Amino acid sequence: MDKTWWKESVVYQIYPRSFNDSNGDGIGDIKGMIEKLDYLKELGIDVIWLSPVYKSPNDDNGYDISDYQDIMDDFGTMADWEELLSEIHNRGMKLIMDLVVNHSSDEHEWFQESRKSKDNPYRDYYIWRPGKGEKEPNNWESTFSGPAWEYDEQTNEYYLHIFSKKQPDLNWENPKLRNEIYKMMKWWLDKGIDGFRMDVINFISKVPALPDAPNPEAKRYVSGSQYFMNGPRIHEFLQEMHKEVLSLYDIMTVGEMPGVDVEEAKKYTDQNRDELQMVFQFEHMDLDSGPNGKWDLKPLDLRDLKESISKWQTGLHGVGWNSLYLNNHDQPRIVSRFGNDKEYRVESAKMLGTFLHMLQGTPYIYQGEEIGMTNIKFDSINDYQDIEILNMYKEKVTEGNEDHDKVMESIYVKGRDNARTPIQWDDTENGGFTTGDPWIQVNPNYKTINAKQAVKDEHSIYHYYRKLIKLRKQHDLIVYGEYQLILPDHEQIYAYMRSYEGEKLLVVTNFSEQYVAFQLPEDVTFKAEEVLIGNYDIDGIEDFSSFTLKPYEARVYKGI
Ligand code: NOJ
Repeated sequence: MDKTWWKESVVYQIYPRSFNDSNGDGIGDIKGMIEKLDYLKELGIDVIWLSPVYKSPNDDNGYDISDYQDIMDDFGTMADWEELLSEIHNRGMKLIMDLVVNHSSDEHEWFQESRKSKDNPYRDYYIWRPGKGEKEPNNWESTFSGPAWEYDEQTNEYYLHIFSKKQPDLNWENPKLRNEIYKMMKWWLDKGIDGFRMDVINFISKVPALPDAPNPEAKRYVSGSQYFMNGPRIHEFLQEMHKEVLSLYDIMTVGEMPGVDVEEAKKYTDQNRDELQMVFQFEHMDLDSGPNGKWDLKPLDLRDLKESISKWQTGLHGVGWNSLYLNNHDQPRIVSRFGNDKEYRVESAKMLGTFLHMLQGTPYIYQGEEIGMTNIKFDSINDYQDIEILNMYKEKVTEGNEDHDKVMESIYVKGRDNARTPIQWDDTENGGFTTGDPWIQVNPNYKTINAKQAVKDEHSIYHYYRKLIKLRKQHDLIVYGEYQLILPDHEQIYAYMRSYEGEKLLVVTNFSEQYVAFQLPEDVTFKAEEVLIGNYDIDGIEDFSSFTLKPYEARVYKGI
């Protein structure tokens, strides 16, 4: 296995709107980020992934881009961005930018041109089709509810939008479009950025006939997704992008890929295939969803998590490389989701961090995770800002006949705004995020949960994360070691081994609030030499092969 800097890095995701507001307009901005770079450096971060800061009408908080080569006014100027990049580099950190090229905004000039006439030179930058009689060209659905097609009177045709109708899908079949994208990518790379996180990049190749989904009701993801996820030319497009752009720079790449399985991910990340380095897969994030998708709530069965994570750990070993994440701007807060955000908030957040950071792959921390930020509950639907939540509520409750309370409950558990409330920096008004009116309300628990408190308290989640990150820097075993699951059927304990060049790790985590007995299986050969980290004090004489775990306890032993 090749050793590379991006395998040894820990990444921190910034969601700009909610990170830090420097000018009191209630919206996070680039200058606000610069103010907090020392905090990130102290935490031990190597790479910052910046969610979109490009020009955008903000239908989907910047994931709808109207100019790929300019900065959103809310966030600052290109000069601010240049300063951010150099301040990041000055501190020995790297910056990767979000690349959103499955779709643009409908306010992008390409689309403005494209919609003008059927023979406009930009027409084929997007996917236009005539309707079927009075109906849409096919039965695909938008991820944000409703049909995936929007009728445009001007040319009497529909355009495809897998996301909102203000996010028309770009037509990757068109080589001219592909070249424009590559040019734009190089423009950013030549400014000195260190790579890209690529938004839904496995959606860019669609089955050209755009066929109807045969059974649109029976679905886990939206109707039609089998025709646009991992489509027929996806590997060809990524290999072309690699040849034209990625291969020319020493950078990091990670592709966000809903609906990718391990076999497909091997193809995307196999270094001999010249595509990407990592993918963000979603299998572990779908385990608490029922057959009707994300809003269909289902409790997590820990055995499912083990099965899924283990499949990815062993599947990509020696072939590709895993990205490790439990949070991002689209997911609820993990401590509220797989942990306990009340009496065991600190313990369970540390346990989840341990579980993740001891795996093989590159760990990603989402802003606020390092201080154990929790989900939000707004009483009124009107306080939510996310287009996915609002469209879903409208479809199910306002226009449909689903029960308000039941839908609100699903929003409390799964809504994306859970991750998007402002970072709680201190216990002053609005958690120190802004001196103005925040664009989305701050979680009222900022008085007790905030970064200032966490930095001061040596037993905080923040300091525990620092230690997790430091350990990864000290032990190649944590980065490169081979993974082996133990106790696959245990319902509360997730335990695994890592091994590398004669060294071993034993990681034992309790995903429950019960006291549970751990017994090292007899067929596992391991002799502990030291405790690397744990979220409770451990009695030095305690036997590593048989002990009782406290609620949400995590222990990591190193040995041979
Ligand atoms: C995935 C992004 O993470 C999400 O926030 C966005 O809404 C969609 N892609 C569309 O860009």
